Amino acid sequence: MTDTPLLPFPSNFLWGTASSAYQIEGSPTADGKGPSIWDTFSHTPGKIERQETGDRAAEHYLRYQDDIRLMKEMGLNAYRFSIAWSRIFPQGNGSLNPAGLDFYDRLIDELLANGLAPVLTLFHWDLPQALQDQGGWPNRQTTDAFADYAAVIARRLGDRVAYWITHNEPWVAAMAGHFTGEHAPGIQDPFAALQSVHHLLLSHGKALQALRSELPAGKPIGITLNLSPVHPASNTPEDQAAAHLFDAVLNRSFLDPLLYGCYPQELLEALGSFFPPIEPDDLRLISAPLDFLGVNYYTRAVIHHDPQTPLIQASQVQPIGNEYSQMWEIYPAGLFELLLRLQRDYPPLPLFITENGVPVPDGVDADGRVRDERRIRYLHQHLVQLQRAIQQGVPVIGYLVWSLLDNFEWAYGYRMRFGLCYVDFETQQRILKDSGRWFAEIVRHNGVPPLPGAQGT
Ligand code: FCB
Repeated sequence: MTDTPLLPFPSNFLWGTASSAYQIEGSPTADGKGPSIWDTFSHTPGKIERQETGDRAAEHYLRYQDDIRLMKEMGLNAYRFSIAWSRIFPQGNGSLNPAGLDFYDRLIDELLANGLAPVLTLFHWDLPQALQDQGGWPNRQTTDAFADYAAVIARRLGDRVAYWITHNEPWVAAMAGHFTGEHAPGIQDPFAALQSVHHLLLSHGKALQALRSELPAGKPIGITLNLSPVHPASNTPEDQAAAHLFDAVLNRSFLDPLLYGCYPQELLEALGSFFPPIEPDDLRLISAPLDFLGVNYYTRAVIHHDPQTPLIQASQVQPIGNEYSQMWEIYPAGLFELLLRLQRDYPPLPLFITENGVPVPDGVDADGRVRDERRIRYLHQHLVQLQRAIQQGVPVIGYLVWSLLDNFEWAYGYRMRFGLCYVDFETQQRILKDSGRWFAEIVRHNGVPPLPGAQGT
């Protein structure tokens, strides 16, 4: 890789990739699967670019063995995936579909046989449509259905799953799904959004309780949040206040109830009137001890005071002159800042980077190679920041790249390619990109080269 000494990672560090069911599996009706809100949403005209859907996606439901072989060849030791709830309960609750459960049973056995620790996410946004028809996350009863589903999964797979994650990015599920409407179920209603925030958190608490009673002792359980440092666009008091509020809405809305058992005061002042009733036991359940916190990091948020923005008068700006991917500003130092902040402001807890990655408009060259230099640079810059944070004592147990495969990137469809491995969506051929080879080297050495020109190297 290079002759300069590598920046080392802890021994037993988890290295892998992350995925989610709807984005890769395809086979939306196979073996008795019921529809999810993403099946409905992606088939609704105008919701997804070019009317694309996850009907085929990367055909992982059919090709999971090949995909696992690929990860093994890369030398990875962990794999994060999510369960499609409506494969297990086609109607959301009630009658169980054993064939759906069998798929994940086979997947987990295959992972273990290939030396990959299964990291299981119970909910990555694909709510069974039947539960949506009964009100979805704004309906408090959905929290009980989630806990029942968690218990069933724990009973069947609990002996073999290494790490449990209740929810993926509940902030996005609540806000993109119920406030902006860019994601399924496509609702635009602040009441529905804040009801979803509280019920997603409550469902986490109830599922955590169910998992604790079903799982063998000592199985680590966590939740994955999308977190970003929030910076004011200028140092005017207005922009600073806007950034402070935005931080409460984006980060502390989930961190504080989970880790301190209370919602931030600023959030309640701004949006409290949209919350559903909070019952006496709710925050106790929500703040039950976690074994780790999953952190998805992609970018930071730069915020200015904006009287036009309803409810919070704060909105995001794109700083000029900085580097952008197809979706977001590229800001590697934010990962270091975020990890140090979590260590400073919250009780000690192992952290797990459960997603980090970048969309690049990759293509296959005439010689069959995919030269995704921009992704290598992105991963390199972020890994250096991660290593710096670990050196400073932040307890990080692993790092997962989003994603192994190019896949269905929600409202963008297949335009955003995040994979270490290229997928030709016509033929379903997989081609390991240059970044995949590069990442395999990082994993093999359990270390990352210093950045070119970095001080002291
Ligand atoms: C995250 C999601 C994941 C993927 C990446 C790019 O917000 O958890 O499913 O879409 O972004």
